[in-house]
Amino acid sequence: MPTDATYDPAGSVPASEALFARAKAVTPGGVNSPVRAFNAVGGTPRFIREAQGAWLTDVDGNTYVDLICSWGPMLLGHAHPEVLAAVTAAVARGTSYGTPTEPEVALAEEIVRRAPVEEVRFVSSGTEATMSAIRLARGFTGRDVVIKFAGCYHGHVDALLAAAGSGLATFAVPGTPGVPASSTELTLVLPYNDRSAVEKAFAEYGDRVACLITEASPGNMGIVPPEPGFNAFLAETCRSHGALFVSDEVMTGFRASAQGQWGLDGKVEGWTPDLVTFGKVMGGGFPAAAFGGRADIMRRLSPEGPVYQAGTLSGNPIATTAGLTTLRLATDEVYAHIGAAAETVKTAVGEALTTAGVAHTIQSTGTMFSVFFTDGPVRNFDDASRTDSAAYAAFFHAMLEHRVYLPPSAYETWFLSAAHDERAVQTILDALPAAAEAAAKAAAGSTAGEA
Ligand SMILES: Cc1ncc(COP(=O)(O)O)c(C=O)c1O
Repeated sequence: MPTDATYDPAGSVPASEALFARAKAVTPGGVNSPVRAFNAVGGTPRFIREAQGAWLTDVDGNTYVDLICSWGPMLLGHAHPEVLAAVTAAVARGTSYGTPTEPEVALAEEIVRRAPVEEVRFVSSGTEATMSAIRLARGFTGRDVVIKFAGCYHGHVDALLAAAGSGLATFAVPGTPGVPASSTELTLVLPYNDRSAVEKAFAEYGDRVACLITEASPGNMGIVPPEPGFNAFLAETCRSHGALFVSDEVMTGFRASAQGQWGLDGKVEGWTPDLVTFGKVMGGGFPAAAFGGRADIMRRLSPEGPVYQAGTLSGNPIATTAGLTTLRLATDEVYAHIGAAAETVKTAVGEALTTAGVAHTIQSTGTMFSVFFTDGPVRNFDDASRTDSAAYAAFFHAMLEHRVYLPPSAYETWFLSAAHDERAVQTILDALPAAAEAAAKAAAGSTAGEA
């Protein structure tokens, strides 16, 4: 416990506990998405009453610096006044018409301007985006097999819920009951960053592969960046076998850089994916996602082509207004600010864990980073799985007590925003020594347990 006179621990959470008890009576596990629960770290998830900028306030009145940022979308921070004004004005004009609208055209234009896609189709979640991209890839190529990498999460699509990273990794579920074997038997799962595994799979199944889908830079097993040239190699391997290269930028899109992960590698190396999926930031905190790509592929979609895909609320005017306003405000200065804040936090985390003698590896791509509680490098899911979850749980709770809300799972990316100012960053830095000490004690316990 720090002796610092300014230390003001988060208080008890009876209101969150009461809500959690009510929630568990009517909702499985008390949450509407598994990683929100604290199963992996223990304790009661905080029920958040409101959020402003970089700060969350729970129903007991405790405030926390937010390092989840709604799992990525809140690039500008919470309740950004210009996003709120645009959304409020849009809501006043009615919430959904089921007809084409101007904001969806403007958002599509903004995405096409930034990302390596000629056309986009909107959906309401990243899961729908990857599901639809795979259907389109199969419809376009007339082939069935899909290749993915272990530890990459592409939403809870049946065919892609094989060795799927964070949520499943947190709960140690290799696949999930409810997905018939027939749904995954056409899915090949390969180790990430492993060129020879990719070559072998294509040598054996090349003429049956509809697409290879990969997170553009995996963030769902913690950040495991593609080794230099790996995405280019994947794009070229797909091309030479007549398969499509699907780059999942749901997490990295408009987040890792203004042009996502592609802005960091593809643009520099001169290759483009055939299809790209987007979500999170492009919805500005509302349910909006998209998939896009080469016009000749996208034109196979209904109503222009025969591959059916649809959605009642797809491209709805509120979500697209929020996304468009967010992207218009996501200037180079915003990315520079988030990158600099991330650098400060990363350096301080590294120093605190080193001082406390805790094994760790910090990896990043663009403005995104994550901390593994294991020695590195972490090149794939097997490496990531060595993370010391007990040490992370202790670190997490000490940070929470010091008013920093980290993802309640050791396999997640830490997200910052344009609103993480000096006070927010300083709150994180102040929390680190005690959290690193707590992690060191837990790590010593895990090692003793192993002996
Ligand atoms: C890379 C990636 N793809 C797809 C998804 C699924 O998105 P959603 O949760 O909106 O369905 C996620 C969600 O975290 C993701 O990180």
